[in-house]
Amino acid sequence: MNKLKLAVFASHGGSNMQSIIEASKSGNLAAEVVCIISNNSDSMALQRAINEGIPGIHISQKLFENESDYINEILKTLKLYSVDLIILAGYMKMIPLEIIKAYRNRILNIHPALLPKFGGKGMFGMNVHNAVIAAGETESGPTVHIVDEIYDNGKILLQRKIPVMPDDTPESLAERVLAEEHKIYAETIQLIIEGKITLD
Ligand code: GRF
Repeated sequence: MNKLKLAVFASHGGSNMQSIIEASKSGNLAAEVVCIISNNSDSMALQRAINEGIPGIHISQKLFENESDYINEILKTLKLYSVDLIILAGYMKMIPLEIIKAYRNRILNIHPALLPKFGGKGMFGMNVHNAVIAAGETESGPTVHIVDEIYDNGKILLQRKIPVMPDDTPESLAERVLAEEHKIYAETIQLIIEGKITLD
């Protein structure tokens, strides 16, 4: 059976991306990362692409005269690699509408809190964990969801709850949530492949 082809979009560290690559290499995930797209030429994600021998492509809107050229470059790249699913893993740019339409229900994101709580505009990075602690939540954990036109709004595919400890700081919570992210993202993709999670 042909492996599902994944494009990972990442802006910074790319540790989630690495966890997906590792799952694919170990055979736990019947999918292959065929290209890595980053808006950030200095990102660790692009360095990881080099280390793994996976095409890493820097695509930033700043490099194009107009938005449609930028969008076409992304679409062209996705077609070139016959991408089945787009995996957002710490991608800090809004996905253009044309791409959401062209890949409807085929773009996933991971968010470091239990959506629909603590999502939406401005809810990224440490802001999320700061808000969870400030709200006195007793549990948190990552959510994998479909990307649509609205931030953190698409169908929830999988969540994993972990307790928030009384002595947790935003940093300690972030670390434990990230450890779960590294398991749940590849698991979700594998469940999609097995037909146990549906994308529409
Ligand atoms: C993760 O916390 C993820 O939930 C969020 O961005 C972060 C990316 O981390 N969307 P990394 O680049 O995968 O290490």
